[in-house]
Amino acid sequence: MEPLTLYAPAKVNLTLTVGDRRPDGYHDVSTVMQAVGLYDTLTLTHGGAGLTLTCTDPAVPSDATNLVLRAAGRFFEETKLPVPDLHLHLRKRIPSQAGLGGGSTDAAAYLRGMDRLYGLGLGRSDAASTLLALRTLYAPSLPDVQLEHMAAALGSDVPFFIRGGTALARGRGERLTPMPRLRDGWFVIVKPPEGFSTPAMYRRLDALPPEPPRPDAMPAALAAEDIRAVAAALYNSFERAVPPDSAVWDIESALRAHGALAALLSGSGSAVFGLFAREDTARAAAETLRERWPMTFAAQPV
Ligand code: C5P
Repeated sequence: MEPLTLYAPAKVNLTLTVGDRRPDGYHDVSTVMQAVGLYDTLTLTHGGAGLTLTCTDPAVPSDATNLVLRAAGRFFEETKLPVPDLHLHLRKRIPSQAGLGGGSTDAAAYLRGMDRLYGLGLGRSDAASTLLALRTLYAPSLPDVQLEHMAAALGSDVPFFIRGGTALARGRGERLTPMPRLRDGWFVIVKPPEGFSTPAMYRRLDALPPEPPRPDAMPAALAAEDIRAVAAALYNSFERAVPPDSAVWDIESALRAHGALAALLSGSGSAVFGLFAREDTARAAAETLRERWPMTFAAQPV
């Protein structure tokens, strides 16, 4: 089998409204997620003994706690397929503790990869001959499973990455509605050295007074393909939980000063993105901001 390389895009949240804490400990959210062209890659190679994982980032665990191996465990448990000899190599580019969905997208890429390998037809199924060969090797009787269902069991953001694009996510993040795709615009994404833990950010929000309701202009802005209206409708509840001395605020100011239409925290942070109308302005801003914050990326919506 030729190695199979899967691209795992990051996401930003164009809007993110956090509601009440639920009895199960999760929070109801309403968020428009946008996949962006900043990628991890997951390469699958047939061989070795059982499932093995290596990762370019030493800070990311490559043991059973890694979300990719948890996805693997769940896939073979649910499908009852025999575990193949498969080596997984994860090349990390998406920063961790950033609110960019790094771990979630890797897990979703793995599930999409399995879907292609085994031709289960649960997502896009464009099996190449090498993949068909592997499928024959393991000769599965194809079970009726749902990729998104498996994805939801792995994390609130994982289902979004099965299809990517632009989508509204509700519930704890797993109830998805496709939205008109954002075609225009460029993102400059900046991750400061500090990282935010998602559960800690939810706890900080819980300690604040409830948020007053606000109008949501994002669906209309996306439908109109109006990048300036999209910029005006950006919103994230988690900004209320960002400490006043955080680098997040310096980055937002710097992005605006370098031509961003608007700037916002992504997810529960600590990454910030600026939305730009033009590629050249975005690339120039990224180059300048990278001098102060090395983890700076320019990316298109994908
Ligand atoms: O689903 P995931 O494992 O990514 O969530 C990580 C943590 O973030 C949860 O354990 C929970 O504390 C918090 N969370 C939440 N409400 C959500 C999503 C996540 O409270 N909708």
